[in-house]
Amino acid sequence: MELFEIIGKTKLNGEVYINGAKNAAVAIIPAAIATGGICKIENVPDIEDVENLKTAITKLGAVCERPDPHTLIIDSSKISSHIVDYNSVKKIRASYYMLGALLTRYKKAEVPLPGGCNFGERPIDQHIKGFEALGATVKIEHGMVKAYADNLRGASIYLDKVSVGSTINIMLAAVCAKGVTTIENAAKEPHIVDTANFLNMMGANIKGAGTEIIKILGVEKLHGCEYTIIPDQIEAGTYMIAAAVAGGDVTVQNIIPKHMDTLSIKLREMGGIVEEGDDFLRVISDGNLKNVEVKTMSYPGFPTDLQPQMTALMAASSGMGNITETVWENRFQYVTELKRLGCKITVDGRVARIEGGAKLTGAEVHATDLRAGASLIIAALACEGKTTIGNVRYINRGYEAIEEKLGALGADIKRVFIDDSDERYSEEMN
Ligand code: UD1
Repeated sequence: MELFEIIGKTKLNGEVYINGAKNAAVAIIPAAIATGGICKIENVPDIEDVENLKTAITKLGAVCERPDPHTLIIDSSKISSHIVDYNSVKKIRASYYMLGALLTRYKKAEVPLPGGCNFGERPIDQHIKGFEALGATVKIEHGMVKAYADNLRGASIYLDKVSVGSTINIMLAAVCAKGVTTIENAAKEPHIVDTANFLNMMGANIKGAGTEIIKILGVEKLHGCEYTIIPDQIEAGTYMIAAAVAGGDVTVQNIIPKHMDTLSIKLREMGGIVEEGDDFLRVISDGNLKNVEVKTMSYPGFPTDLQPQMTALMAASSGMGNITETVWENRFQYVTELKRLGCKITVDGRVARIEGGAKLTGAEVHATDLRAGASLIIAALACEGKTTIGNVRYINRGYEAIEEKLGALGADIKRVFIDDSDERYSEEMN
């Protein structure tokens, strides 16, 4: 079992290099099996979600090579099954993208209901609505989503919810459907644009990704390609917030600054300095910012995946502030753990009221999901003394070498391996 041990109150200084986007990689890897060709994907983050997806497509018959940790070559020509194994995808939410990809490839797909981070109800009705509009029959049986189609044909689909997953999944299923598919009220996140760009490199004809209306003209077939994944908006934001909470001068390198606009604006409002370059942002902070109002929204709004990290920053800042979560119905479970560090936060439905200025002190805490884990790291940086974070496996899902990157900036953080039988750190808490 792994833990992080962090001794807070050190300033952060220097440069940190951001890896490829997790949420793009977990869509692009399944997208690669929509063709029988070979795809060479670069800037793939070296994280557990990627490893799990690689295992899942290998079990289907794909041959994956990783000539270096950030390059993945997928040869899907020998895929022989349309049924995805439960064990390899139970921890990944994005396994549902295999539905769209296998529908395009084989007109049939059987994929376990998604796992991944648990922050409330995570329905997939909009994915199913999209597949059915394209002509598929979908049923859920024995924990599996089963989709079959004789023929896929283009359709007009209006999403009742702005949903990243269903926007991407419908694109995946529609690329070779006969005629034109229109997705209205589509989500606009950067990884949607990245997945559309990847599919277009494979021969698809997708226009409008990044806007509310996406048009897909079905093509005969897809082919292999070479593609480089965009930088991770959420990893970048996590390091920007780490710099803001700890104080110091940190340059976050290899990013698309535009993707960070809402966070940069909030950090400036709080009194931090954010300077922008072509592919970097420099965050300068005295470690004592003042609180603001934050509301999560789909892109280009403030990302829900930075909400837990922002809550930790605000708990360590001065004054009163509120964070309103509008995307997920139940994304404040981690607050109980932040309170163990001394954070003063009251949750009322979808709003967290944060009273800054509290004295934060290190304690034993447990990550309840991926970004909750990042939030505990942020808070620990502001604590007096040592914080021990359990359930590091959640953090491993989405952050590459986080202790090395923070350590290089000056944080006192180490990954500790302990005996699984050590009851003090039982992972049954979740
Ligand atoms: C993706 C991200 C996740 C992020 C979320 C919102 C990946 C792998 N994960 O998750 O980190 O927090 O976007 O930015 O990219 N909904 C429905 N019906 C559906 C689908 C979604 O009601 O069929 C609702 C959800 O309950 C939620 C909202 O729509 O309230 C947004 O969900 P969605 O954008 O689909 O999230 P994911 O794609 O699962």
